[in-house]
Amino acid sequence: MVQTFDRHRRLRKSAAMRNLVRENHVRVEDLIYPLFVVEGTGIKNEIPSMPGVYQLSLDTLAEEMKEIVALGIQAVLMFGVPVHKDACGTEAYNDDAITQQAMRLIKEAHPEMLVIADTCLCEYTDHGHCGVIHEGEVVNDETLKLLGQTAVSQAKAGADIIAPSNMMDGFVVAIREALDEAGFEHIPIMSYAVKYASAFYGPFRDAAGSTPQFGDRKSYQMDAANAREGLREAASDVKEGADFLIVKPGLAFMDMVLRLRENFNLPIVAYNVSAEYSMVKAAALNGWIDEERIVMETLVGFKRAGADLIITYHAKDVAKWLAR
Ligand code: PBG
Repeated sequence: MVQTFDRHRRLRKSAAMRNLVRENHVRVEDLIYPLFVVEGTGIKNEIPSMPGVYQLSLDTLAEEMKEIVALGIQAVLMFGVPVHKDACGTEAYNDDAITQQAMRLIKEAHPEMLVIADTCLCEYTDHGHCGVIHEGEVVNDETLKLLGQTAVSQAKAGADIIAPSNMMDGFVVAIREALDEAGFEHIPIMSYAVKYASAFYGPFRDAAGSTPQFGDRKSYQMDAANAREGLREAASDVKEGADFLIVKPGLAFMDMVLRLRENFNLPIVAYNVSAEYSMVKAAALNGWIDEERIVMETLVGFKRAGADLIITYHAKDVAKWLAR
């Protein structure tokens, strides 16, 4: 018979054949696991909207780290949740604050673990905004100074990578200059370059206690409808010296992962954010979906779109599945 169509199914015939032609893979080295650290001892508070994710005190963090290391996860993203919050987020750049203590503890016990510091003020301010406020507005340039101080304090505490997430203009160059001046020119910046004002951060704000007390973040985080603006954001961060580019949230904005991949040659990071996790968990706990397959399909989707790395609350489960 004369061939009149393509036989795509030839390459799908068996598991071995499918393995042979698979284009993308999720590896444990691709995963970054977020951690929430609180003051006190013996604390392991499960976040109600994020089953399996906990606020940890330093002692329970030490236990958790052993498990994370044993699973082969090699990078964590640190969020500190201090008791004392004030208008200027002082605890963000206090060398003895909870975040800095947690980073020192991890680096002492596990020097090879990559500690990534989320560099923002919203977990540390009493108003819950990501910068200092004047007359109801988050002021850009004054906030930059505090971000620079925060990054230096985090680097002193052992952070291997600084990940600024607060979306002030010029935050990459401000942090780069502050780090360089303090002798941390070797510390890379993983910029939350394309970060949207998103309802997908809802559960995170319960975990980090960082819900804004008035207004919203729309004057500094991006409008969900905009893609070209995301390319401008990323271009600014590259020009300012970013070493990695994050897209956040990941799932509903996977087109932005692809766009960044096509436009920039830096490592691209997809942040599989809190509500993306909560939705999967809720459905899984109801027995409505196959959690493992849903999660793995999502993560390989990030890889297919062009992400090199994935920040995900599923990291521990994924590491277990991959090890099987
Ligand atoms: C800001 C920050 C947020 C998240 C990570 N860093 C919250 C926000 O911008 O409101 C959200 C992450 C998630 O939802 O998982 N420090």
